[in-house]
Amino acid sequence: MIKVSGLTKDYGSRRAIHNVSFDAQQGEIVGFLGPNGAGKTTTMRILTGFMPPTDGEAIVAGYDVVEESLEVRKRVGYLPETVPLYNEMIVFDYLKFMGELRDLPNVEERVDEALDMVAMTDRAQGYIGALSKGMRQRIGLAQALLHHPEVLILDEPTIGLDPGQVVEVRELIRQIGKERTVLLSTHLLHEAQNICDRVLIINKGKIVAEDTTENLQARLVGAERVIVRVRGEADRELGLVIKEIKGVRGVELKDEGVVEFEFASGKDLRPEVAKQVIKSGYDLLELRPLGLSLEEIFLELTNSEPRRGN
Ligand SMILES: Nc1ncnc2c1ncn2[C@@H]1O[C@H](COP(=O)(O)OP(=O)(O)O)[C@@H](O)[C@H]1O
Ligand SMILES: [Mg+2]
Repeated sequence: MIKVSGLTKDYGSRRAIHNVSFDAQQGEIVGFLGPNGAGKTTTMRILTGFMPPTDGEAIVAGYDVVEESLEVRKRVGYLPETVPLYNEMIVFDYLKFMGELRDLPNVEERVDEALDMVAMTDRAQGYIGALSKGMRQRIGLAQALLHHPEVLILDEPTIGLDPGQVVEVRELIRQIGKERTVLLSTHLLHEAQNICDRVLIINKGKIVAEDTTENLQARLVGAERVIVRVRGEADRELGLVIKEIKGVRGVELKDEGVVEFEFASGKDLRPEVAKQVIKSGYDLLELRPLGLSLEEIFLELTNSEPRRGN
């Protein structure tokens, strides 16, 4: 469980986060989504008891992060932005050392168990320096899991991984998250949508939106422009065919066989669009969302005004 209210942090005269409040329950994976400099790492460092806030309160696993930071650290697993790993150390010895720092009973068993969880048992006797980035990240996760923490705080856990490793680490987090409270930061919308049950959006130190992943998805459908490409030139008639479809808006003819539009209804109308385009005798070459930048997402989620109509 995490409960944060009015958290504020100043670095000198610079305010990094301002009045941040949210909570996260057991069994929930909460995403902390925001661009670089938004204040994600700052918030996470406060929640793990590494530094005090300037103002506000945070209760993690039942304890106050300032007053009872030792109790908090016993119950929190933290994967920092860059995992401090020692290249010249053997994987097993490193984890054992981390477990000893925590005064864990049966340290070797704990290490075996954590290695098993992150599927790295076969690397136990290898050097850390010989591991790929994805494997290092998994060792970082093993380190965060050693003491059976009820809360996990993961700072950009998939940054710098190749696509295959990203899939692996996400799957692992989903598994781990089933019985714990997980707070995970990312600057990628699709990552938040992919792993998290709920997403908090943070920009310039403030939480600007909070919603379930499902609702967020629904709110963002239509915020995104969709591109339709057909063989040959896109003509006025193709534009009309698409415009006719109920729930489509903002149709624009581009050159080279391309028409762009949005969904007004919040429903993904791509199957219907494909059907109508083909039915009207066009060779459909492509139908895809153009993607949203984080800035556009913030605009969309923080703007209560309806967007331009049809
Ligand atoms: N140790 C520090 N001293 C001064 N300013 C900092 C420090 N750490 C972070 N900041 C500033 O605080 C803001 C939030 O940073 P950070 O929490 O690292 O954001 P994020 O993790 O979302 O990228 C940024 O403007 C950053 O430059
Ligand atoms: Mg950060």
